[in-house]
Amino acid sequence: MYKANDDRYKNMQYRRCGRSGLKLSALSLGMWHNFGSRDNYDNMADMVKAAFDGGITHFDLANNYGPYPGSAEENFGRILKNELSPYRDEIIISTKAGYEMWDGPYGNWGSRKYLVSSLDQSLRRMGLDYVDIFYHHRPDPETPMEETAAALDYIVRSGKALYAGISNYSPEQTKKMAGIMRRMGTPLVIHQMRYNMYDRLFEGRLENVLSYEGIGSIAFCPLAQGLLTDKYLKGIPEGSRATKSVFLTPDKIKDEQLKKTAALNELAKERGQSLAQMAVAWNLRGGLTSVIIGASRASQIVENIKALDNMKFSDDELNKIEEILK
Ligand SMILES: NC(=O)c1ccc[n+]([C@@H]2O[C@H](COP(=O)([O-])OP(=O)(O)OC[C@H]3O[C@@H](n4cnc5c(N)ncnc54)[C@H](OP(=O)(O)O)[C@@H]3O)[C@@H](O)[C@H]2O)c1
Repeated sequence: MYKANDDRYKNMQYRRCGRSGLKLSALSLGMWHNFGSRDNYDNMADMVKAAFDGGITHFDLANNYGPYPGSAEENFGRILKNELSPYRDEIIISTKAGYEMWDGPYGNWGSRKYLVSSLDQSLRRMGLDYVDIFYHHRPDPETPMEETAAALDYIVRSGKALYAGISNYSPEQTKKMAGIMRRMGTPLVIHQMRYNMYDRLFEGRLENVLSYEGIGSIAFCPLAQGLLTDKYLKGIPEGSRATKSVFLTPDKIKDEQLKKTAALNELAKERGQSLAQMAVAWNLRGGLTSVIIGASRASQIVENIKALDNMKFSDDELNKIEEILK
């Protein structure tokens, strides 16, 4: 049986999630890719163990991660049972519902029927009594926000989840949802949004709403799915995400962006970091609670955690980054 590294908490940072009692590791591991039914069990288990050994306590899932949808939760459940069961109380597990999961009118969006049924399915797939964080994955334009909020409130009060979060909500939707949830007595604890050097939508209005409401912020795709690493600088490597995912197809890798990536890569070298490490450190330079990295192998996780070795940016470096990104 796996025994976790005794020093795992020494080098990781744990950041408070908004004004809640919950702290998250500055890096979290997400299972959107590479944890599906076609993926190798040993490689998946190695990634989870490398993350936990490096101080990552937070693992991010969703009902639909796979393919097939649900298989990432099944695989993570297997890894938990086989490797990590003694450590359940040291781990934060999140899952979500909001995208299409099953046929008919109850397998998508934000109704109480969908959210509660979906979480029950997720718990069965992972073999868990509860998850730590349950998210509404995206806003539903048709279901009243009060109903979605009441479902999250019920889910927390019933003990199926300890905390509630939202993802992909606009600043205005976040403000409204935060007010409803606060009045219900189950404050929103976290908002999950895309944020990286190439996608800055979080900055400004959403950042301000979260700070004002005391809600934590966790960024997905901090490496822009691999575009903020040196991986695509010399072409598209066999087996990389761009060769196998509908979410990053070769036509999305543009020469103009590669030029920027090459310049960022040089700056990272000057800082004594890989570009992946600099991208993680840059995301964490402000008040973000955590970044959710993805990975296809354990060595990437080990490399990315080392971002914490150099988190400081001089004004000159920050200006150079903005200049490159212009
Ligand atoms: N809430 C939402 O709507 C939402 C949406 C998207 C994602 N998420 C969450 O965010 C998580 C992370 O998303 P993501 O996987 O797109 O994150 P990401 O960190 O931007 O990209 C991960 C990919 O980058 C490459 N990579 C990672 N480290 C590397 C390194 N050191 N050197 C070279 N390449 C490296 C790997 O690609 P290769 O596979 O090519 O090796 C890896 O699969 C997801 O798993 C999910 O939990 C949430």
